[in-house]
Amino acid sequence: MKVAVLGAAGGIGQALSLLLKNSLPAGSELALYDVAPVVPGVAVDLSHIPTAVDVKGFGKEDLDAALNGCDIVLIPAGMPRKPGMDRADLFNVNASIVQTLAEGIVKNCPKAMVGVITNPVNGTVPIVAEVFKKAGTYDPARVFGVTTLDVIRAETFIAELKGLNVNDVKVPVIGGHSGTTILPLLSQVEGASFSDEEVAALTKRIQNAGTEVVEAKAGGGSATLSMGAAAARFCLSLVKGMQGEDVVEYAYVEGNGEDAQFFAQPVRLGKNGVEELLSYGELSAFEQQAKEDMLGTLNKDIQEGIDFMNK
Ligand code: 2OP
Repeated sequence: MKVAVLGAAGGIGQALSLLLKNSLPAGSELALYDVAPVVPGVAVDLSHIPTAVDVKGFGKEDLDAALNGCDIVLIPAGMPRKPGMDRADLFNVNASIVQTLAEGIVKNCPKAMVGVITNPVNGTVPIVAEVFKKAGTYDPARVFGVTTLDVIRAETFIAELKGLNVNDVKVPVIGGHSGTTILPLLSQVEGASFSDEEVAALTKRIQNAGTEVVEAKAGGGSATLSMGAAAARFCLSLVKGMQGEDVVEYAYVEGNGEDAQFFAQPVRLGKNGVEELLSYGELSAFEQQAKEDMLGTLNKDIQEGIDFMNK
């Protein structure tokens, strides 16, 4: 496996690269790309860790070399949020960064699986899809918005609240990756039940968890370590799926358009990316209402990405 991390010198990129250096299958290659001049140093630093994963750093001018022959490309590049900002406020800065990187992918490894982390994910994933479409090489089964952080946050918060072993808690999270578009399906959590008040409070906490970090970092950025862990989990699931294991993850993908053109839902991963779009099942009345209420926002976020590429 050759895996590229684009934006590898940033907070998420470094955490993610460290976790991948420690956990990709032996013989894998890890290509670290960043416009920041520190990236060769990050690669040297990681290369001293004794695992059978080969790490190389690629600077600003070396995007093509970083991407050449990649099987998986993860994109955490871009600006993080500051207090008071919504993920959507990042659109103007991050949209062109994602476009440039996606053009590099189309040119160098058009068959790679692409995991988009750069916010606002609701709008940056459609940008990547549009770049592929313009080149005539779009395969919706290979483009993912990484929403795993919403899932792991939900699992952590529920385990804490209910005194459960977090390894036993599984929480479906559907929709998008911003505010009310993040919809945890608490009615489907096995081994735990919630009062209406708990459902309301937990849903809100999961939706605002990114902001909880942004505020706690007080101007120092947004979630990097938990996002790195989430993206590493997603990448390792992709690797397993590509190697023939049966793996299901929740991710923001272009599916059948039933709810919105792009929607986070359960997907079975395989050799070709999304092998199967799975149903997210029955929703409670609360979840059904929350889903209907968020679709306007989600569709607007998606359209912004599409319009950016077609202006
Ligand atoms: C978050 O949810 C960074 O979007 C990321 O905190």
